[in-house]
Order: sequence, then structure tokens, then C-alpha cells
Amino acid sequence: MNQNNPSQLDAIETASVDELRALQLERMRWSLNHAYNNVPFYKAKFNDAQIHPNDLHSLNDLSKFPFTVKSDLRDNYPFGLFAVPREQVVRIHASSGTTGKPTVVGYTQNDIDVWSTVMARSIRAAGGRPGDMCHVSYGYGLFTGGLGAHYGAEKLGCTVIPMSGGQTAKQVQLIMDFKPRIIMVTPSYCLSLADELERQGVSPEECSLEIGIFGAEPWTNEMRQQIEARLGIDAVDIYGLSEVMGPGVAQECVETKDGPTIWEDHFYPEVIDPETGEVMAEGEEGELVFTSLTKEAFPIIRYRTRDLTRLLPGSVRPMRRFSKITGRSDDMMIIRGVNVFPSQIEELILKESGLAPHYQIEIGKQGNLDTMMVNVEAAPDTPNDDRKNIAERVQASIKDYIGVTAPVNITDPETIPRSLGKAVRVVDKR
Ligand code: DLL
Repeated sequence: MNQNNPSQLDAIETASVDELRALQLERMRWSLNHAYNNVPFYKAKFNDAQIHPNDLHSLNDLSKFPFTVKSDLRDNYPFGLFAVPREQVVRIHASSGTTGKPTVVGYTQNDIDVWSTVMARSIRAAGGRPGDMCHVSYGYGLFTGGLGAHYGAEKLGCTVIPMSGGQTAKQVQLIMDFKPRIIMVTPSYCLSLADELERQGVSPEECSLEIGIFGAEPWTNEMRQQIEARLGIDAVDIYGLSEVMGPGVAQECVETKDGPTIWEDHFYPEVIDPETGEVMAEGEEGELVFTSLTKEAFPIIRYRTRDLTRLLPGSVRPMRRFSKITGRSDDMMIIRGVNVFPSQIEELILKESGLAPHYQIEIGKQGNLDTMMVNVEAAPDTPNDDRKNIAERVQASIKDYIGVTAPVNITDPETIPRSLGKAVRVVDKR
């Protein structure tokens, strides 16, 4: 495995923490002023909170500024939060969400260049090198995954296969014929590709892939181990969201695999208590909040991501990391008073070798009580007679570790719906 050669890193990746903080303060001042002077929404919000960009004397002063939430984007649909004339916007992306209007974001040419730079940096941190071939299975289109990965891979100097999602058999054929070293895909769709490779009788040694850059949805370390073993690759975590930029806000470094490093020269992180909005100390779990430091078309100030995690000190970069995202506050299920995240269920399922990593959680109602059932596929070679025992074991471990009673229904292989992008983990039948 290639290790990162410091001479290839961006200068800021080897800067001191003091240098980084000084750059952040300068850029934060610029970003707050840019938003205040060019977006009526921010001017009104800051005025209401009786705070002005000039009141920022240190990075901690950011906590005096108001938050931005997803409904603010919807209320200003489509272009109301843009800070430059529309003619200077060279690209639009949008995320569909589950209800109502999509949230729309825009980029100037300079924003696209910054995004490509942080994505190239991400692929390099994952172990990618100029000259590598990179197969991109993130969806192309309004979703930021495909084009974000694409521009970054080109910028790093890779040969890009812009495959997008879907056409699983063809994906596998091209992987076998072109022999890419890197794949960029959601972890759940990677499992579908791994199933197809196995169906075609391809062993990990025969497959050219060495690095998988996985994100756009929560995935556990148990899932990492399983994917690494099945494909014989290093699986690393990439994080991002369209409101803040797209993929490449943070990237796990392959040599440590210790949670994504935030590219803090462009995106300033805070973790807050989701109830009170108070900024939490490093290491405490809460909601991740981001402020863009350099974005021109769509500056975003203190955006509440709803993603739950902890900030951690830098390890192989001066920038801080966060621990693998446990889930989104909106994905949290409350079952008879117990908070449950799909990732907790995933951890327990993946400990059972008789089960496939394809699962869906069904929420229902019995009288006034919420119920939860876990549907999970048997591994292809699991004898039918073993299913009952496995189901009982998993149900018992869910009770022990999470504290809820949830029947486990083991289904035949290939029965849980597959997604081409982000997996649907919870089906609410209430
Ligand atoms: O999912 C951007 C992206 C594309 C990231 C490709 C990584 C790779 P959105 O569609 O706006 O953007 O969704 C953003 O997805 O707030 C998280 O809840 C979730 N998410 C993204 N990356 C991760 C990750 C793209 N590595 C939302 N782990 C975010 C857990 C993730 N959740």
C-alpha cells in the first residue's frame, strides 16, 4: 500500500495548527462579511441577533452568530441564498429530500476549483495517486456525488470512468476489463457490486481494485471490515453534503482509518448540543455544524447538518477529525422510549456470519406502542435450518446491547430491495 508522501501534500496539510487557525480567522471574517453584504437573508438574520461580522474577534466568536437550517434553504428556493449574480454561477446542484421542494446550491468557477482541489486531496489521502484509474459509481446529475468525485479525480491526474449508478452487471464487466485501482461508490451499492463479482466467480485477488472511497450514507466499521475482506481493498470514509459543497468536506486518511479529517482550511466545524444549540467540547457527541470559509456563490454560516458525531484532534494532518457518523438525528427511531439508530442494528447483524449485509428495519404500531422488526437476508450458503437460531441470537443481542425487543426476520437472499445510491434502511409503516 502506498503511504502518503508529504512532498505531494497541499501546503496547508503540513502547516502548524497555529497557521491553520490564523488562516481560518481571516477567511471566516471574509465569509461572514460576504454573506452579510450579499445575501439579504443573512443580513436580516444577523441584524435580528444583533451581531455583525465585525464582532468576530476570535474563532470562538462564531458561536454568537445564528444557525442556518435546511428549511432556510427551502424558504429561499431556488436562488435566494446566492451571494453572486446568477450569471457568475457556473453550476447548480440540488438534493431531493423526502418532502417538498429540493434544496438548491450553486458554484462559481472558483468554487468548482476549490471543490476539485479538496476532492483531489481526499482521493490522495485515501491512497490514490496521479495515473491511477478511478471508477466512479456515485450518481451523476443533480446529486453532488458523481460530478464531485469526477472533477477531483481528474484534478489529481487520474483516468476517470464516469460510470454513475446502476447497470450492475456492466459495472462489473468494466471493472474487470479496465482494471481500475480506485472505486468511489456508496458502501451499500458496493455490496451489490461485490455480490455481482462473486456471482461471476471473481475472487478478490483477480479484481484490480485496491481502494474504495465510500460515503454519502452512514456505514459502520463492521461494514468496513466486511467490504475490505470481500474485495481485498482498503475502504475509507468520505463525507460531505450538498449544502456545504458536496463530497470532499472531510476524508479519512488510509494510513490511520481513524475517522474523516475535515478540510478545515475551507470548512469550519463545530459540534453543538442539538437541544440547546450550545457548542460542545472536543470529544463530546452532538450535531455537526459547518461554516464555509471560501465559498463565493453559496456561502453557508453555521449550517446544522443533523449528523451526529464527536470532534477529535488531528492525527496525520493538522486538521481535526470526527468519529464515524453514528447517524442523522432524523434517522433516530424512538422505540418505546429507547433511541435506536440503524447503524447500531448494522453492527450486530454484521457480527453474524450466517447473514448477508442487506437489511431493512420496519417500524410499525401495535395499539399505542411502536414496534420494530429487522428484516435481514440469509447469506447465500446458510442452511435454512440455521435461520431460527441465528434470528434468536440477533434478537437477543439487540435486546442486550440496544435495549429494545425487535423480532428478526431472516429472508431469502436477494429479497431486500437494493439501492443504486443511498440505501433505504428504515421503512416506517405507521
Ligand atoms: O451525500 C455528498 C456525498 C457524495 C458525500 C458522495 C460522500 C460521497 P447529500 O446528498 O447532500 O450529499 O447528503 C448529505 O449524507 O448530511 C450525511 O447525513 C450523509 N453522509 C454523507 N457522507 C457520509 C458519510 C452527499 N461518510 C448527507 N458517513 C450528510 C455518514 C454521510 N453519512
